[in-house]
Amino acid sequence: MHTIPLPDTTLAVHTCGSGLPVLLLHGFPFDHAMWAGQDPLADDVRLIVPDQRGFGRSAGPPPASIAQLADDAVALLDALHVAEPAVICGLSMGGYVAEHVAARHPHRVRALILVDTKLEADTPEARAAREKLAATVARVGQEAVAEAMIPNLLARSDAGRARSGRAAGEELLRRTIHATPVATITAALAALAARPDMVEPMRAVTVPVLLVVGAEDTITPPDCMERAERVFPRPRLLIMPHCGHMAPLEDPDTFNEAVREFLREVAGHGAGPQADEHPRKHVH
Ligand code: MLT
Repeated sequence: MHTIPLPDTTLAVHTCGSGLPVLLLHGFPFDHAMWAGQDPLADDVRLIVPDQRGFGRSAGPPPASIAQLADDAVALLDALHVAEPAVICGLSMGGYVAEHVAARHPHRVRALILVDTKLEADTPEARAAREKLAATVARVGQEAVAEAMIPNLLARSDAGRARSGRAAGEELLRRTIHATPVATITAALAALAARPDMVEPMRAVTVPVLLVVGAEDTITPPDCMERAERVFPRPRLLIMPHCGHMAPLEDPDTFNEAVREFLREVAGHGAGPQADEHPRKHVH
């Protein structure tokens, strides 16, 4: 891990490989370790895998908004001297951050990979649930988040459980949740609740977009990505069987192969926006 000072925080970042820069943004409330299964992608590309502010080994202050995390991501690319447009990949909260990078800094994005996430803002009920969870976390600590999230993160079907090495996956996620400061969790819950709807801004994204979702994701189910498929001008959709909300961690081989294939196409099309249609692909 390197430590990269930014104007008002310091980010810890894991980097490996060389070539096309690919930024991997973790979900809530995790850190770079959830992407460990993606390290083999560094045979072909330059992976940049930060702990976002307040998470993992990165310093605070805790996140104030999803837009701020997007600006951090671009400041990190600057600090690493990544001048060419990068592939921005994010899971769940990281997906919201990736969408904000595409909306706020479009010239920094070569392609987008959105994983187990959605474009829409929270419903009033979802906002209220986040407020309630934040209040409970402030009172009793991280275990409240572990209890609320762990049972819903990984696939529940027998095939999914067998595939994901569920016990090890859950143990990693539980450890990460418990290592995340309460101030980061409560601030991130407020930032998630306040995030704007990104459907309209995403209609303007001209770069290729890969949408990936676990068939058994109950937090951001496949229909979220199916709706997103109708928004982006150049989407591809992959629904990963036997995976839940953490598809890259549950089935890294399938995820990595889909990303490799997508990146080959992206590289083949040069850096600029393309006018041609990409075929859509569904894998069930
Ligand atoms: C995540 O995995 O990042 C969270 O589930 C995001 C969310 O709650 O919307």
